[in-house]
Amino acid sequence: MTATIELQDAAVRVPDDDLLILEPTSLRLTERRIGVIGGNGSGKSTLVRLFNGLTTATTGRVLVDGLDPAKDPAAVRRRVGFCFTDPAAQLIMPTCVEDVELSLRRGLPDPARRRAAALDILAEFGLADRARTSVHALSGGQRQLLALAGVLATRPAVVVADEPTTLLDLANSRRVAQRLFELEPQLVLVSHDLDLVRRCDRVLVVDHARVVFDGPAEAAVEHYTELALAEAAS
Ligand SMILES: Nc1ncnc2c1ncn2[C@@H]1O[C@H](COP(=O)(O)OP(=O)(O)O)[C@@H](O)[C@H]1O
Ligand SMILES: [Mg+2]
Repeated sequence: MTATIELQDAAVRVPDDDLLILEPTSLRLTERRIGVIGGNGSGKSTLVRLFNGLTTATTGRVLVDGLDPAKDPAAVRRRVGFCFTDPAAQLIMPTCVEDVELSLRRGLPDPARRRAAALDILAEFGLADRARTSVHALSGGQRQLLALAGVLATRPAVVVADEPTTLLDLANSRRVAQRLFELEPQLVLVSHDLDLVRRCDRVLVVDHARVVFDGPAEAAVEHYTELALAEAAS
């Protein structure tokens, strides 16, 4: 069972400005793995932030399994976890184990059980020996894995990962990518790693605040490559 993410003419306009950063967009996403590609500043983050209410549609509607993030943000966020490019944006506790515990506090009110579950999750992400380490002392790759562990701990139905490997070196990027594709939840992946995106079931290409292509991965990558080449030549 996958979640259904629906956009009905959803558009995003910058407040106090006349700038449309997402043109009215209608989509119904149900695939297991959905890729989003496009140039810098094209509107990829704006689009995927709609899926868990980090950004609100100025006009139109967003529905996640029928829930509107503008009306019921807490319920949507429980369903859709978000993983940022820079994991520092979501790691807020001093040590790794405490950070995962924070994610678990809703589901596991008992501190001892919460600690045990957090340690299990860290082990799953290859961070067992880092439990008491400061989140600041982690390598970039470990930090991204920890951020992902924290998101997964809340048991979301969907994980939205916004350029999760952009800041990582090749080995760490592979490690995080492998994790993402092993995940139980549905995945929405924004990435410039076209090999990774090729593994998605459906890929959206975003350009100048619009979804300009929506279809199979290979054709999407081709479409994006043509756009990028034309832009580079202009
Ligand atoms: N809160 C905001 N205020 C003004 N402009 C914004 C805001 N958020 C995004 N933008 C602009 O919207 C465009 C798309 O941004 P974004 O969705 O982050 O692009 P991408 O993720 O594809 O790089 C960019 O030009 C960006 O500067
Ligand atoms: Mg972005």
